[in-house]
Amino acid sequence: MSQPVSSEFTDFVSAKLELVEQELSRQAGSDTPFIDQAANHIIEAGGKRFRPLLVVLCSRFGGQVADEDLVRAAVVMELTHVASLYHDDVMDEADLRRGAESANHRYGNSVAIMVGDYLFARASETVAELGTDYVRLQARTFARLVQGQIAETRGPAEGDDPLEHYLSVVADKTGSLIAAAAVFGGMVSGASPEVLDALGRFGEEIGEVFQLSDDLIDITSTRTGKTPGTDLREGVATLPVLLLQASTDPADQELKKLLAADLSSDDALERALQGLRANHVIGEARGDIQRRADLARAHLASLPAGEHRDALAALCDEVVSRSS
Ligand code: FPP
Ligand code: MG
Ligand code: MG
Repeated sequence: MSQPVSSEFTDFVSAKLELVEQELSRQAGSDTPFIDQAANHIIEAGGKRFRPLLVVLCSRFGGQVADEDLVRAAVVMELTHVASLYHDDVMDEADLRRGAESANHRYGNSVAIMVGDYLFARASETVAELGTDYVRLQARTFARLVQGQIAETRGPAEGDDPLEHYLSVVADKTGSLIAAAAVFGGMVSGASPEVLDALGRFGEEIGEVFQLSDDLIDITSTRTGKTPGTDLREGVATLPVLLLQASTDPADQELKKLLAADLSSDDALERALQGLRANHVIGEARGDIQRRADLARAHLASLPAGEHRDALAALCDEVVSRSS
């Protein structure tokens, strides 16, 4: 279990995140009013700012950090994330994001794709100010993001284990950027290579838990600010579905058939969601996610103790219990 953190520490983190927030909308801005509005659309809709939070917490493992560098590192991570969401919503044909109309729904696919590119370009300009090591990590992370998304789009090849394929997609499309956020935090504070290594392993693991939870609540929750069942409708098999597909229990066969059928109508999708919500695979997926969160927490053991480490441990609990 994690230790509670003091209100001084919480205030400190909130103050840094406030600085990030101001710079984020400035960086996403443009002299062209339409681009300014479209690029800030998803940023203004809200979001958990999970990657900036990791940058701030992980920046406590080294020495003194200039606010300017801390904010740059956090902004680069969030802009890259938001850019990927503009593209993701086009590919997933999503109409809701963060409780607001998705950019593709509002402005059309072409504009949404180009605004995603614009945000990524803005992130690239900012990361250049941090230095070559940051640019290299950012570039490698971007390659993994795209690689993961391509693997998801293509699905497992003949003979591939579907669960292994899914987990490698999750690691690449989400674990990579969250790991980079943890490492960026360490880097701006001049943390040692050993600490950076531990932060990277922690970030990768908690990032995977974050995505597994996200995929679970796509089925179980109606409070995500997204349309429930998007993965099912798009034919993306996530952990509960993969567990069901592997089940030989005769009681699961009917639901398996339902999931394999056409889910394009709202009615069929709703019946599939109801069936899954009532099935044992939801509890099994939750158990698996909990075990992985425990693994993430174990990576913290080699890091120096402190309130920032306690806050990271608390995040391991929060990503498991999240419902939005
Ligand atoms: C969300 O997955 C998508 C990602 C984590 C990244 C996908 C990567 C790209 C689209 C390429 C990156 C492009 C740029 C410009 C950086 P999801 O659909 O499971 O999540 P959701 O439930 O939030 O929609
Ligand atoms: Mg999506
Ligand atoms: Mg997607």
